[in-house]
Amino acid sequence: MVQVARLVQGALLLCCLWAVGLVQAEDPYFFFTWNVTYGTISPLGVPQQVILINDQFPGPNINSTSNNNIVVNVFNNLDEPLLFTWNGVQHRKNSWQDGMPGTNCPILPGTNFTYHFQVKDQIGSYFYYPSTGMHRASGGFGGLRVNSRLLIPVPYLDPEDDYTILINDWYTKSHTALRKELDSGRSIGKPNGVLINGKNKAENMSHLFIMKPNKTYKYRICNVGLKTSLNFRIQGHTMKLVELEGSHTVQNVYESLDVHVGQCYSVLVTADQEPKDYMMVASTRFTKYMLNATGLIRYSNSKGPASPELPKAPVGWAWSLNQFRSFRWNLTASAARPNPQGSYHYGRINITRTIKLANTVAMVDGKLRYAINGISHVDPPTPPKLAEYYNVADKVFEYNLVKDEPATVDEPTKVTLAPSIVNTTFRNYIEIILENHEKGIQTWHLDGYSFFAVAVETGKWTPEKRKNYNLLDAVSRNTIQVYPYSWAAIMLTLDNAGLWNLRSTMAERSYLGQQLYFSVLSPARSLRDEYNLPDNALLCGIVKDMPKPPPYSSGA
Ligand SMILES: *[C@@H]1O[C@H](CO)[C@@H](O)[C@H](O)[C@H]1NC(C)=O
Ligand SMILES: *[C@@H]1O[C@H](CO)[C@@H](O)[C@H](O)[C@H]1NC(C)=O
Ligand SMILES: *[C@@H]1O[C@H](CO)[C@@H](O)[C@H](O)[C@H]1NC(C)=O
Ligand SMILES: *[C@@H]1O[C@H](CO)[C@@H](O)[C@H](O)[C@H]1NC(C)=O
Ligand SMILES: *[C@@H]1O[C@H](CO)[C@@H](O)[C@H](O)[C@H]1NC(C)=O
Ligand SMILES: *[C@@H]1O[C@H](CO)[C@@H](O)[C@H](O)[C@H]1NC(C)=O
Ligand SMILES: *[C@@H]1O[C@H](CO)[C@@H](O)[C@H](O)[C@H]1NC(C)=O
Ligand SMILES: *[C@@H]1O[C@H](CO)[C@@H](O)[C@H](O)[C@H]1NC(C)=O
Ligand SMILES: *[C@@H]1O[C@H](CO)[C@@H](O)[C@H](O)[C@H]1NC(C)=O
Repeated sequence: MVQVARLVQGALLLCCLWAVGLVQAEDPYFFFTWNVTYGTISPLGVPQQVILINDQFPGPNINSTSNNNIVVNVFNNLDEPLLFTWNGVQHRKNSWQDGMPGTNCPILPGTNFTYHFQVKDQIGSYFYYPSTGMHRASGGFGGLRVNSRLLIPVPYLDPEDDYTILINDWYTKSHTALRKELDSGRSIGKPNGVLINGKNKAENMSHLFIMKPNKTYKYRICNVGLKTSLNFRIQGHTMKLVELEGSHTVQNVYESLDVHVGQCYSVLVTADQEPKDYMMVASTRFTKYMLNATGLIRYSNSKGPASPELPKAPVGWAWSLNQFRSFRWNLTASAARPNPQGSYHYGRINITRTIKLANTVAMVDGKLRYAINGISHVDPPTPPKLAEYYNVADKVFEYNLVKDEPATVDEPTKVTLAPSIVNTTFRNYIEIILENHEKGIQTWHLDGYSFFAVAVETGKWTPEKRKNYNLLDAVSRNTIQVYPYSWAAIMLTLDNAGLWNLRSTMAERSYLGQQLYFSVLSPARSLRDEYNLPDNALLCGIVKDMPKPPPYSSGA
């Protein structure tokens, strides 16, 4: 009897598994409710107002696996409009969830809005932050990781544990005070300190990173700061780089890493030293001042405190450039899918458009502004993405104020304030040259895409420089730093329809205009290429009371 029952059960199980297979189960959902509030803490020993998510600073980690659906219901209990952006999440066909002021109306104080996005075909280490009104200066940031699906091989053994390290420069002034300085035309000046996971000193860390002897751990390190590149290192330990903004890299070993604003690196660290405590250090790079923070790692069988001798940061930016050049894509490793390169290779595609962008800084009516090719972006009251959807773009902004060529260095720089939206052709393969004409380092981030960071060089870009591009194993990523008086070249296929922000990762610069949007519209207005405006989308500006346009159709 028992045996028969088992057999029947087995048959039932088989039948149902088979049925599920046919139906194609939807990818799993993960739900989060966030209560965003002000709170008072003292990261640098001085009490100050910060932004908390569910009483946490930094905010909670979002842990996910490729293709998961993430649903975050955000309750804005601040006194200002708010948006969150998911830095590095590509939002395939879905810039509606990107949470930038150009794509979404802000969540008004006392109200809530639910983001719903899928971490489609991605793996890697990312972070989120509030994209509105300099809020990042007060917190609201947190880690966002996308693990590989079980079926997909990962090019290293499963680590014993997985730790998120958020490092950032920090001001004791609130975001409102900093914003006031920027609005009045002044710089926010230098930061007051550096934080590691919200703390400045190892002894103040509430959460220790424990390592069992001889075990290997993954650390995901992101610079969530406002403007300062940071060097990260761990006493007595090297770090094996395994992943960089969504790409598995060649696994080089580093004593320290330069992490520029907005960048994330995943490294493996093995507890193969004397059993005691060790400090991690994050310290400022390319600055006249030296600020640093320490954090604590403890062996589970620790026999003593960390040595007070801290490892020193490297000096100069040539070191940093060399480190950039050592980052290579592992061509044989799987990413979210096996064989991520598919049958095509980025180095063999013909470029259809070259866009050269130069950062400009100027005083406009006595106020500090930053720009790209002379256009200093301002957010219009109607988000340009909504204006496009409702067919009223011409009432909100003018396309293509930014030209594909900047003015030459010798021309006087005229800076114009306006919404900056660059029109593009869907599926074009483009090259963007980022020129830095200033004596400080710049870092850029693009939403909606990973791009191939094929070159960073000093001096001036010319078409002949294409000979120097890494067309074999450049890392596919979403940020790129450009050293003083240097340029960087990135390449990408514009295959993700939507409106996508390109910005200086330095909050002061993007707040004062150093950003633009690429409008990537599919001529088909088809669900194959882009999702419809979500039902719960907030509406504002001139589209607030307009009738909804007919939705995109599913016909291709
Ligand atoms: C959010 O936090 C505030 C302050 O702690 C509290 O007053 C409020 O009830 C919370 N709201 C929710 C929905 O939990
Ligand atoms: C850090 O810890 C020290 C020693 O325990 C304490 O005196 C100091 O107030 C703490 N600082 C902060 C910002 O919590
Ligand atoms: C994060 O997700 C992975 C895979 O989805 C899981 O193995 C792991 O236990 C999760 N970690 C935490 C802390 O939730
Ligand atoms: C606000 O939260 C409620 C649940 O508390 C939810 O039903 C509603 O859909 C949310 N509103 C938006 C715009 O997401
Ligand atoms: C690249 O990935 C492959 C496949 O997982 C792995 O065997 C190899 O060790 C990796 N190579 C390097 C140089 O990291
Ligand atoms: C760690 O590995 C080393 C070298 O293989 C070995 O000598 C040591 O006993 C190991 N320690 C522990 C605690 O397992
Ligand atoms: C940390 O900063 C202090 C104060 O500026 C400086 O004296 C010290 O050398 C720095 N240490 C490291 C390891 O960067
Ligand atoms: C790329 O351009 C070259 C030179 O103009 C041309 O010969 C070649 O056919 C093009 N390749 C593709 C794939 O379009
Ligand atoms: C934008 O580019 C597309 C494709 O090149 C073109 O069809 C369209 O007319 C352009 N729109 C504007 C406003 O320039």
